[in-house]
Amino acid sequence: MVDFEGEYGRRYNNMIERAMPGYTGMSELTLAILRSHMKTFENLLVIGAGGGNELISFAMEGWNITGIDPSPQMLELAKQRLAQIKPESKIELLCDRFENFEKSKEFDAITSILVMHFLPDDGSKSNFLKKVFHHLKEGAIYIHVDVCKLAGTPMETVGEIAINYLKSAGLVHTRAEAMEFLKNGSSGGHFSVPTRMEELFREAGFIQIQQFFQGLYYCGWMMKKGSVK
Ligand SMILES: C[S@@+](CC[C@H](N)C(=O)[O-])C[C@H]1O[C@@H](n2cnc3c(N)ncnc32)[C@H](O)[C@@H]1O
Repeated sequence: MVDFEGEYGRRYNNMIERAMPGYTGMSELTLAILRSHMKTFENLLVIGAGGGNELISFAMEGWNITGIDPSPQMLELAKQRLAQIKPESKIELLCDRFENFEKSKEFDAITSILVMHFLPDDGSKSNFLKKVFHHLKEGAIYIHVDVCKLAGTPMETVGEIAINYLKSAGLVHTRAEAMEFLKNGSSGGHFSVPTRMEELFREAGFIQIQQFFQGLYYCGWMMKKGSVK
């Protein structure tokens, strides 16, 4: 199980921008996509809200935000950061897995950033996406960013490059440390490839599926719930 309750979780906010090349650009694009789609005072669900990166970025927009994350430590980090910037933010935080989210509420937008790679492709990814779809209003937008390797690139090649990258980013010094780091960040590594991800999005019912971000081992998509193909 990934160590969001331990050292990895404590370090998360200080290292994610270095661990994931392009993270800041991806986050800025995510905000721009949401701004283009959402008017003020609409409802947004942030899946995997722990650490607070999305919440900090979205809090100033005036949206009603619900965040869900099963890690108490990651949620606490998010709360501390939010308290520093905007104590009156309209943000509700729930400590649970998204799979257990029970509210009947529908949202104008949902984000899931770096969450679904923790789930195996044995029906769990598919059920997760169908549940996202269920909680969106007609015409609403979903932003999905995932650890996802390029099709055709062998896992060993990606792993080798990632190890070298983490070393040059100063996050680890040895190969063993890099392996441990990658294990914590991927929790068994249920990585997928973009073609499989897009199949899962379509099966869940999404339309207008567009990739807006691509790294060596991360991809981001935006898509809609709607009936117009
Ligand atoms: C890699 S961190 C990403 C945090 C944040 N989205 C970001 O981009 O900085 C993954 C987060 O997803 C949470 N998480 C893992 N499985 C989850 C699930 N089934 N439902 C909701 N959150 C989950 C973890 O607790 C952790 O806080």
